Amino acid sequence: MLKGKKVLITGGAGFLGSHLIDRLLSEGASVLAIDDLSTGRRANLKKALTCTSFELVKSDANDGKNLESVFKRFRPDYAIHYAAVVGVKRTQERPLTVLADLDGISSFFALAKKYHVKKVAFASSSEVYGEPIKMPNREDDPLNPKTTYGVVKAVGEEFVKVYSDLGLAGTALRFFNVYGPRQDASNEGFVVGRFIQQVLAGKPPTVFGDGRQTRDFIYVDDNVEAVLRSLVSPRTNGEVINIVRGKPCTIEQLAERVITAFGKKMKPKYVAPRIAGEIRYRHADGSKMKKLIGFTPKIEFADGLRRTIQWHREK
Ligand SMILES: NC(=O)c1ccc[n+]([C@@H]2O[C@H](COP(=O)([O-])OP(=O)(O)OC[C@H]3O[C@@H](n4cnc5c(N)ncnc54)[C@H](O)[C@@H]3O)[C@@H](O)[C@H]2O)c1
Repeated sequence: MLKGKKVLITGGAGFLGSHLIDRLLSEGASVLAIDDLSTGRRANLKKALTCTSFELVKSDANDGKNLESVFKRFRPDYAIHYAAVVGVKRTQERPLTVLADLDGISSFFALAKKYHVKKVAFASSSEVYGEPIKMPNREDDPLNPKTTYGVVKAVGEEFVKVYSDLGLAGTALRFFNVYGPRQDASNEGFVVGRFIQQVLAGKPPTVFGDGRQTRDFIYVDDNVEAVLRSLVSPRTNGEVINIVRGKPCTIEQLAERVITAFGKKMKPKYVAPRIAGEIRYRHADGSKMKKLIGFTPKIEFADGLRRTIQWHREK
């Protein structure tokens, strides 16, 4: 899809960015990643760093001068904005740090236009829906973000639309809960990896609250496929798209699935909610994704969990 093209990715040393980079390099693209390594890791790019068509620049993408220096030198055909403060716990504890990402968004779009990028993609989030007003979450539903993280993502989506009118093609991709190898499984990290780590350590998965909250999980390879298709398809220009499986699962069910995947007999441990006001329901409608890029996620949950567990065991 992108053979011979130059792709710039902010936040490329992170979970999603590094998987996307591996895929782009395998397709013959040249890639430059800019990442401050705040949550990203060089280890995620172990394979990419052996490739002559890949370069990692360790730098803050929220600093317009830093960002301009890479746009100016690399002259990308495509640019993807992933750099952001992420994680429910981290973003809620540091709401003002999250707002600094607005600087990065603003510079990213201005520079992409200035350096004549063919198309941009912006990583948005299901957090723009906040506590959903309607379900399943559809792209044209009213937004109801409850956190600065959700607000910043909603602003990023508006940049996509505004710059589209100014002649810069772009698409905003609303990611729901992606999981897979390389995802942060620390205390500040994400639920699938945390449950796997707990069971690996012989402990029951710790469920916050009653476990009836739902999330819509998608395996990272499906996410990467959807991102690439969205990036190259003119049908996504100026559009906001849910990138999802569209099959919600409760956190209690997730804990049970992880236990089953390990062949263990234990019960999840229920503890008090870790933060006030955590979003209760996530269930996305993926019909726009299917219509615009002809994609339906392929990886079943059991298979994705098996692959993720395998990675945690090897790590
Ligand atoms: N993983 C998910 O389930 C999910 C869901 C919704 C949205 N997203 C969005 O997708 C994108 C990628 O998320 P991820 O899960 O890979 O998270 P991640 O933390 O693994 O990746 C984010 C990367 O951005 C880098 N970064 C952060 N601030 C930076 C800055 N100012 N300058 C340069 N680099 C910076 C980090 O070091 C990290 O490598 C983010 O924008 C996130 O908001 C992810």
